[in-house]
Amino acid sequence: MSRGRARELAKTFLERGDAKGWFESLYAEADGAAERIPWADLVPNPHLVSWLDENHAQVEGRRALVVGCGLGDDAELLAARGFDVTAFDISAAAIDWCRRRYADSKVNYVAADLFELHPEWRVAFHLVVEVNTLQVLPPELRPAAISAMVKCVTPGGSLLVIARGREPNDEPGSMPWPLIKGDLELFVQSGLKLISFEDFFDEEEPPVRRFRVQYRKPIEEKP
Ligand SMILES: C[S@@+](CC[C@H](N)C(=O)[O-])C[C@H]1O[C@@H](n2cnc3c(N)ncnc32)[C@H](O)[C@@H]1O
Repeated sequence: MSRGRARELAKTFLERGDAKGWFESLYAEADGAAERIPWADLVPNPHLVSWLDENHAQVEGRRALVVGCGLGDDAELLAARGFDVTAFDISAAAIDWCRRRYADSKVNYVAADLFELHPEWRVAFHLVVEVNTLQVLPPELRPAAISAMVKCVTPGGSLLVIARGREPNDEPGSMPWPLIKGDLELFVQSGLKLISFEDFFDEEEPPVRRFRVQYRKPIEEKP
């Protein structure tokens, strides 16, 4: 039901050449009813939880950026694990919702567009987390989105992508449009090193194919 409305909004906006406007309409229309947001599980993404369990025991003082934070569950998880978190979303209604939901939060929630990056976010974060946002952007916007995310990572820092996956010859279907591995190559072409690429089916019913990919920005050696 909620996915149907999201697809309808995405289609309407895309047909008029506006790939970004439907997010605000969706959140504003939902008016606080999370069941009307198809991706709002109201819990942190389980693949982020397990990745943090395995990779980030020591995080005090480390800065994390959550791209397309939605209703804030992943941002709050990172803050609870000790990161100093900035989380942004293009939808002002989503950011207001996060601030209401987590009135005492330590997270810095910001309404902002990935394609108009705040200058102070460049080279500023030890961890950049993107969960399921690239896949709701049309393919022609993904290279610029990837390039913007890469700019935010500090040398030695990591970038984590969690997304739906498919084979190149599978039909992309309707929003969310699962990614192919080739969609992610630009992270490496933009200067990151691939650390791990996990391609798996999750435990949903029916199981969904997911990619969980970690990159690291090399530390430039002084000549
Ligand atoms: C599929 S949702 C995923 C939300 C959240 N990451 C989650 O997993 O629940 C994609 C999110 O990206 C946001 N978004 C889309 N385009 C964006 C942009 N250009 N800049 C910032 N956020 C964007 C949307 O508003 C939406 O909240």
